[in-house]
Amino acid sequence: LSTEVTVHKLGAGIGARIDRVRLGGELAPDAVAAIRAALLANKVVFFRDQGHLDDTGQLAFARLLGEPTLAHPTVKGREHTNVLAFDSDYGKANSWHTDVTFVDRVPAISILRAVDLPPYGGNTVWANTALAYDNLPEALKALVDRLWAVHTNVYDYAGHVDSTRIGGVDVQEKAYRDEFVSQRYETEHPLVRVHPETGERALLLGHFVKRIVGLTPTESHAIFELLQNRVTRLENTVRWQWADGDVAIWDNRATQHYGVADYDDAHRRLHRITIAGDVPVSVDG
Ligand code: SIN
Repeated sequence: LSTEVTVHKLGAGIGARIDRVRLGGELAPDAVAAIRAALLANKVVFFRDQGHLDDTGQLAFARLLGEPTLAHPTVKGREHTNVLAFDSDYGKANSWHTDVTFVDRVPAISILRAVDLPPYGGNTVWANTALAYDNLPEALKALVDRLWAVHTNVYDYAGHVDSTRIGGVDVQEKAYRDEFVSQRYETEHPLVRVHPETGERALLLGHFVKRIVGLTPTESHAIFELLQNRVTRLENTVRWQWADGDVAIWDNRATQHYGVADYDDAHRRLHRITIAGDVPVSVDG
C-alpha cells in the first residue's frame, strides 16, 4: 500500500508537520518508514487530527516504531502500564529536559498525545541538541567531547521549578514527586553522544544532570549553563501550540523539550509513550 505522507518543515533547525496520515497500529510500512525518516531529519514531528486515538491506539502505533518501555521507571502508568500521564493536577514542569536520562538505556523516541487542553497556553517547545553541538566553537567541542555527567531522578527541583511554588506544592503534586523519587536512579552519560542511527553528535544534558564528572559544583554549574544556553537558543527550537487530536513524536536522542505552564488554573493532560533506546555512546566509542 503506497502512502501520500507529506512533510512540511517548520523551521531550518528543527520540527516538521506531517499531514495525510492516520496514526494507529494498521499504518502501512512505507508510511512508518516515511515518519521515521522525517523524525530523524527534523527531530520532532507533529500530527493534527488524530482524535481517533486512545491509549490502546497510541500504543499500537508506538509498537511500529520500536519496543515501548514501561510508563516510567518509578511512576506507574495509571490507566495503562506503558502510558505516562502528564496531568497538571500532579504538577507542571517548566523546565528543559531529555526524557528519563537517569537510566542507562535512555528512551530513543517519545510519543505525546493531547488528551485535555487548556483554553490558552500549555505549548511545548523542543530544541535540537545535535544542531546545538554542531554550532559550538571547535575549542568547546574539544572540551565537551571528553566530559561525562551524572544524571539522577532525584534532581534539584528547587533549581528548576519556580521557587514561589515550592512552598505551595499541593498534596497531589507532592504525592507525584514522592512517587517520582521512590527509587533512586543515578547514572553517568557522556555529555556528547553519538546518535546510533544518524551518527550525529548531540549534547546530552537537561534537568536530570546533577554534576559533571571531575568538576566542582561551581564548575559543573558554569559548564551546564553555558551548554544549556546553547541548546535553548531560539533559532534552535520549535514551539507547538497544541490542538485537540494532536500528536508529537520526538527523537529523544537529539532533543530537549519544555512544557510551558502558562495556563493559570486550567486543566492540561497529555499521554506519553516512550520507545526503548540504547546506552548513549561517547565520541570515543
Ligand atoms: C514531557 O516532558 O514529556 C511532557 C511535555 C509537556 O507536558 O508538554
